[in-house]
This record gives sequence, C-alpha cells and structure tokens, in this order.
Amino acid sequence: MQEIQVLDKTFELSIPYSELAARIDAMAAAIRADLEGENPLFIVMLNGAFMFAAELMKRLDFAAQISFVKMASYQDTGSTGEVKQLIGINERIRGREVVVVEDIVESGLTMKVMTDILRERGAGRVRIAALFHKPQRMKYDIKIDYVGRVLDDAFVVGFGLDYNGYGRNLPDIYKLKH
Ligand code: IMP
Ligand code: MG
Repeated sequence: MQEIQVLDKTFELSIPYSELAARIDAMAAAIRADLEGENPLFIVMLNGAFMFAAELMKRLDFAAQISFVKMASYQDTGSTGEVKQLIGINERIRGREVVVVEDIVESGLTMKVMTDILRERGAGRVRIAALFHKPQRMKYDIKIDYVGRVLDDAFVVGFGLDYNGYGRNLPDIYKLKH
C-alpha cells in the first residue's frame, strides 16, 4: 500500500515497519546498557506511544515497571499549544529512574510539562525515549536521550500516530501528501 486515505487527506508510505523495528532494536540496546538493574519506571504517553511502547518493552528483558499517562495538545494537524494531564500515575516516582516513552517530540511542550511534573514529584533521573523527533519544530529546551529517527516537519500517521483519531492502527508510517 503506497498511498492511503485517512479522513479527508491522502498519505504516502514513508517508513516501513522493518525500518521501525530496526530503530527500536537499537533504542532497546541503548536503554538496556543504561538502565539494566536500576528498576526503572517507564511512563508511556497515550494514545500515540502505545504501539512503540509495546515493541520497545518486548525487547527489554530486565525488571522494570510500566505505567501510562494521557495528555493532549493536538487538534487537526497543528498543536494547540495547550497540554493537559488526563490520566495520572499511581506508581512510586520519588527517587526512581524514569523513562518517558513518547511517539514524537515536536515543539517539546508535552515533554517539558511531563518532565516538570516528574521532577516536582521527586523522580531521580528522568530520560526521554521518542520514536520520532522533528528538530526543526523544537521550541523548548528538552534533551531526548533515545531517538528512533529524525523527521523533517511533514505530518505523519501510523504505528500509533493519528490524524484526528484515525490511522493509529497502520503498521507502517505514512506522511501527508501535498
Ligand atoms: P509537542 O508537545 O509539540 O512536542 O507535540 C508532541 C505531540 O504532538 C506528540 O505526542 C504527538 O501526539 C503529536 N504530534 C506531533 N507531530 C505529529 C505528527 O506528525 N503526527 C501525529 N501526531 C503528531
Ligand atoms: Mg502524543
């Protein structure tokens, strides 16, 4: 499937699953090297990171906890600039090594809000694992510890990422056609 329709827009195949899998293999190896034996807490950003997180966590065979939070900053294909935490975290955070698992970092606002909340709650070192990063769109000074792949600023769907709620179930990444 080279071209697909999601709602009113046409998208074209951009990154096949095989490449995503290889990128996630490398991220898992880097995370294992840093955090094996540290009992880290992985915090998965719903909804977008669900598929990436499942693939990443299957590749990590050491003791770790996984929790889920839901925030929203996105409407249509542009950020609203507002971030709200919708579902909280019940696991102990104080003193913990934490890895925030995110689908894509664009302006960095979502990760800034999330890492501020975690620091306020006394987390130990907070790291970020993002499958994608759009460096040209960065507005906040956020360090991403593990990046799957850098993207230009095209809007993408698939592998958990959506366009107005659709496209998350696609196994590959598609980008908006102009
Ligand atoms: P930020 O807060 O500006 O860094 O935006 C990050 C959030 O925007 C991510 O968690 C995604 O849910 C969403 N997002 C950014 N770019 C895209 C995209 O190309 N497709 C789908 N969602 C995106
Ligand atoms: Mg998101």
